[in-house]
Amino acid sequence: MKMQTLNAVQMAQRLLLSKVQQATCLVDATMGKGGDTLFLARNSSPAATIYSFDIQAAAIKQTQELLIRHGLEQKVKLISASHATVGEHVGLGTLEVAMFNLGYLPGGDHLLITRPQTTLAALHICLQRLQVGGLVSVVAYPGHTGGNEETQAVEAFLEKLPQSIFTACCWNVINHTKYPPRLYIIEKTRGEFFEGDTARKD
Ligand SMILES: C[S@@+](CC[C@H](N)C(=O)[O-])C[C@H]1O[C@@H](n2cnc3c(N)ncnc32)[C@H](O)[C@@H]1O
Repeated sequence: MKMQTLNAVQMAQRLLLSKVQQATCLVDATMGKGGDTLFLARNSSPAATIYSFDIQAAAIKQTQELLIRHGLEQKVKLISASHATVGEHVGLGTLEVAMFNLGYLPGGDHLLITRPQTTLAALHICLQRLQVGGLVSVVAYPGHTGGNEETQAVEAFLEKLPQSIFTACCWNVINHTKYPPRLYIIEKTRGEFFEGDTARKD
């Protein structure tokens, strides 16, 4: 039997699956073609709401069509705005799962990419709003123009998260050429208020 190698997106979904199954408040911060939104909608409970963000009309349209094909459109709020506005939709301590898949819309304009400033702003808000035991995944792509800078910014931000509140891990393919994507998983382990002071406190 041929061994199936998981890519970073599949690995993120596998690591988040059991949390998604129990969750009722979930975010797809980068909707794109809707792959992660469909994963969240399919695997969460019927009572769950998924808040999915994208700045491109083409992404909203493709995701909406995908959800309709699967009869899951009722569970998902498709939000045509930057993920930096996530705080307008998700209350403090309510978020259970958030997924980020950075970069550009596959098949779309490669210049319309996620940017470090908004990515970090959205990540920060998601981490503030996360429940204890909640998980955030980030798939980052160092290989495209601007992608390495963004990956470095995400990693630098995550490295400084206070360890008394979060555990941040990195899954990284180390023997592939051409800058394979990197996966970060962050778990909130304690319920202390996280103001956003990223200086290490412990
Ligand atoms: C790699 S794609 C996401 C792929 C998607 N998860 C899927 O399964 O198809 C990245 C997406 O992020 C979107 N994006 C870029 N900047 C954004 C922002 N500030 N807020 C929300 N989405 C953004 C892009 O338009 C693009 O569709």
